Amino acid sequence: MKIRTVGVIGSGLMGSGIAQVSAQAGHRTMILEVSRELLDKGMQRIEGFLRAGVEKEKLTAETRDRILSLLKGTTDIKDLADCDLILEAITENLQAKRDLFAKLDRLCGPSTIFASNTSSLSITEMMTATSRPSRFLGLHFFNPVPLMKLVEVIRTIVTAEEVEAAALEFVRATGKTPIRTSDRTGFIVNRLLVPYILDSIRALENGVGTIEEIDAGMRLGCGHPMGPFTLLDFVGLDTTYYIAGIMFDEFKEARFAPPPLLKRMVLAGMLGRKTGKGFYDYSQSPPVPLNHLTA
Ligand code: CAA
Ligand code: NAD
Repeated sequence: MKIRTVGVIGSGLMGSGIAQVSAQAGHRTMILEVSRELLDKGMQRIEGFLRAGVEKEKLTAETRDRILSLLKGTTDIKDLADCDLILEAITENLQAKRDLFAKLDRLCGPSTIFASNTSSLSITEMMTATSRPSRFLGLHFFNPVPLMKLVEVIRTIVTAEEVEAAALEFVRATGKTPIRTSDRTGFIVNRLLVPYILDSIRALENGVGTIEEIDAGMRLGCGHPMGPFTLLDFVGLDTTYYIAGIMFDEFKEARFAPPPLLKRMVLAGMLGRKTGKGFYDYSQSPPVPLNHLTA
């Protein structure tokens, strides 16, 4: 089973990066979004990253043009009918993902493989919205997709071996390292990472340190490339809030519970870098920590 054409659904932070690395690996890649405007935003993100790559001499202008020629955007789901692999990266919401996969199931031929980039939802629960359980799995990329080296490959108890093998080959073609894991909420990385970033918010609320002190602590004390608040703003506070809610529902453990401050920030539209404000204000350079949040 060889994957040649790929459909990516959603061109937000993750979808745009996944579409880029898919095309970079030589696959014809179709990106589906809900509107032209959001599609253009996703394409601009890809073009910007590739432009910076050429400026940094990480790739040639010819390679950039070849990658862009393999990418096509659409707002019509029917354009994905002939894909060998469809990978969704839409909002972290079970019902939205199930509705999408049910629609795709009616549209695509029986051999198309379906994959989800979910951070925390059950692959099995999404799979049951389709008539192809054996051709369904999770492919969890990391943010920023073009730079992060890992992909978690999540099989369910009914994923066919040949489907997992084709997915592993797809991941390796993108230059990433796959790790195999089973369908347990949060998989490997988020099971460990999510309680840590949520704990950083609780530490802030408890007055342990300021935003920049806690960030510096984990950067300089543990060698993390980003402190937890920089990372939270990078991932998106809305996405983190959804993930925490899903993981708490599953495990009923306090360490996964979304902290009240996170909820207040999401309600106030402070979603991190994507809205210009989160734990830091990005309208200024360097970004300014918003320490009044706990007042
Ligand atoms: N094209 C090609 N290469 C590029 C590039 C571009 N446009 N931009 C940067 N690069 C290259 C750089 O040249 C550099 O390469 P070398 O190492 O060969 O020099 C490398 O990429 C790193 O780039 P920078 O030096 O500009 O950036 P940095 O060192 O500040 O690192 C980062 C940036 C990789 C994002 C780093 O800060 C990092 O790893 N942060 C943590 C990210 C993280 O934890 N992500 C996971 C989030 S959780 C998740 O994703 C799961 C979930 O479900 C929520
Ligand atoms: P995002 O909000 O940046 O992007 C989601 C995009 O999906 C939006 O542009 C939205 O318009 C689009 N969309 C929603 N419904 C759609 C539909 N029915 N059809 C087509 N497009 C649709 O979110 P994101 O951060 O890219 O996260 C996407 C997925 O990836 C989530 O499941 C998330 O948990 C997961 N994820 C996120 C990160 C991260 O760091 N942000 C990392 C790994 C995995």
